[in-house]
Amino acid sequence: MQVGIDMGTVSGGAPAKLDIEELLATRLLVQGNSGSGKSHLLRRLLEQSAPWVQQVIIDPEGDFVTLADKYGHVVVDGERTEAELVGIANRIRQHRVSCVLTLEGLDLEEQMRAAAAFLNGMFDADREHWYPVLVVVDEAQMFAPSVAGDVSEDARKMSLGAMTNLMCRGRKRGLAGVIATQRLAKLAKNVAAEASNFLMGRTFLDIDMARAADLLGMDRRQAEMFRDLKRGNFVALGPALSRRPLPIVIGSVETSARSSSPKLMPLPDAPQDVEDLIFTPDPEEFTRPMTRRAPPAPRPTTDILAELSRSVPAASPAAQEQSQRPAQPELSPEAREERLNAVLSEIIDDPQAAYRTDAVLYQDFLVRLRMRRLPGPPMAMREFRRRVAISRAGVDKETAETPGWQTALELSVRVSDDLQGVFLLLARAALLAEPCPSDMRIAKAYGTHSARRARRLLGYFEEQGLVVVHSDFSGKRIVAFPDLDVQTSPGAPDAQDEEPVERQHAAE
Ligand SMILES: Nc1ncnc2c1ncn2[C@@H]1O[C@H](COP(=O)(O)OP(=O)(O)OP(=O)(O)O)[C@@H](O)[C@H]1O
Ligand SMILES: [Mg+2]
Repeated sequence: MQVGIDMGTVSGGAPAKLDIEELLATRLLVQGNSGSGKSHLLRRLLEQSAPWVQQVIIDPEGDFVTLADKYGHVVVDGERTEAELVGIANRIRQHRVSCVLTLEGLDLEEQMRAAAAFLNGMFDADREHWYPVLVVVDEAQMFAPSVAGDVSEDARKMSLGAMTNLMCRGRKRGLAGVIATQRLAKLAKNVAAEASNFLMGRTFLDIDMARAADLLGMDRRQAEMFRDLKRGNFVALGPALSRRPLPIVIGSVETSARSSSPKLMPLPDAPQDVEDLIFTPDPEEFTRPMTRRAPPAPRPTTDILAELSRSVPAASPAAQEQSQRPAQPELSPEAREERLNAVLSEIIDDPQAAYRTDAVLYQDFLVRLRMRRLPGPPMAMREFRRRVAISRAGVDKETAETPGWQTALELSVRVSDDLQGVFLLLARAALLAEPCPSDMRIAKAYGTHSARRARRLLGYFEEQGLVVVHSDFSGKRIVAFPDLDVQTSPGAPDAQDEEPVERQHAAE
């Protein structure tokens, strides 16, 4: 089957076609300096080909998660163990589901390890699951750097190995690499060399231009044309695109990137009382600790000599200062728990919280704890997630104390952290014999707007043997929990009612 994806236009206005089947066999390299429009191009390619081929996107910036709502990609947060990522990658191939692996928020080394684990998981899938899948890697130079950088040798080898597998040995296994890079000279040569299709965008540096010319088999003067390309303009070459270098303009996209170029914004009119505004302190200002920036004054040599001649080392000046400071008041565990819960509910009660990732909420949580000067070790991310899940389920104190709820909590550990909130939301509805939450409500508990994804979650719980989903005669949905021996009352899956769910703090 030949499917021509419409990438945009060639000069004269004819459509610029990309043969997707040919692409699966011959891979694609996109190159262009920052802002040349690579990510936009990848998005156009992904949107246009979504109905035709399974897609996996390795997304360092979390830009492509917006594909989920319109095209149903599953968003996989890279903040997981390598074993988990390998398992997910395997199941992604088995079930032929498109997905975005978002690595936003991880440091470079963690990003490399996560991408490598995921790519290896896909590469090592069972032969029976070797269906074609487009594997798009944005910022490929991060994962296949041409020279060793600041990261550990181990991480670099792992990531480079996975990228080499993808580009050199992936074809037989159905993996078609589509990689984009800002700087060809920074991308490992063997990884770049395996692509037979190229889309070259604006390129400033001679060294990149020279590499591009070599790859494309052009002479260097001809490659000069890459220097003046405008944003969104690329030169296409390769069996899936064009037999000769063909300038094309990438068309528009349907979903938006989460980050966009900075725009100049007019400054607001200066208010009359600028000085008042700037010099009036806010009341909390004086309670914040001062940060001292001046270097400490040099100590007189006599002091140092005196200190050295003492037999027992005296406490350092910092320790002395510490001992003079009033000690942090001790908090009883109950009082501490209460304060933690108060901060937690401030965060959860923000209506936007449902659509923020747990990692973002956790950062916010830590900052607030520091601001309140809550002593003791901070709560671990895992525990935080669990509490968020419980409070998102909106269970009241009375229900929280029932044995049924305790069993639900135990069962919820069997699903991954990000699904616990949804699971508990359903369990609560069942324990209280309330109507089954609508798709929208379930989606919200998962932090998405996608009803389709909500339904998939139910399917997943069912696969795990945790619930049985059935419907009444009018088509309303009922979710039963065999282990709890309860079920929700019937609820319309497509109900739009976004009744605010009361969030009281669960006494765990
Ligand atoms: N063909 C196009 N039509 C309209 N807007 C475009 C087009 N290409 C790019 N843009 C816009 O230009 C900006 C930069 O594009 P993009 O993010 O794709 O660049 P990039 O090459 O990926 O840059 P970086 O390497 O820094 O990630 C974005 O705001 C994008 O929406
Ligand atoms: Mg980009």
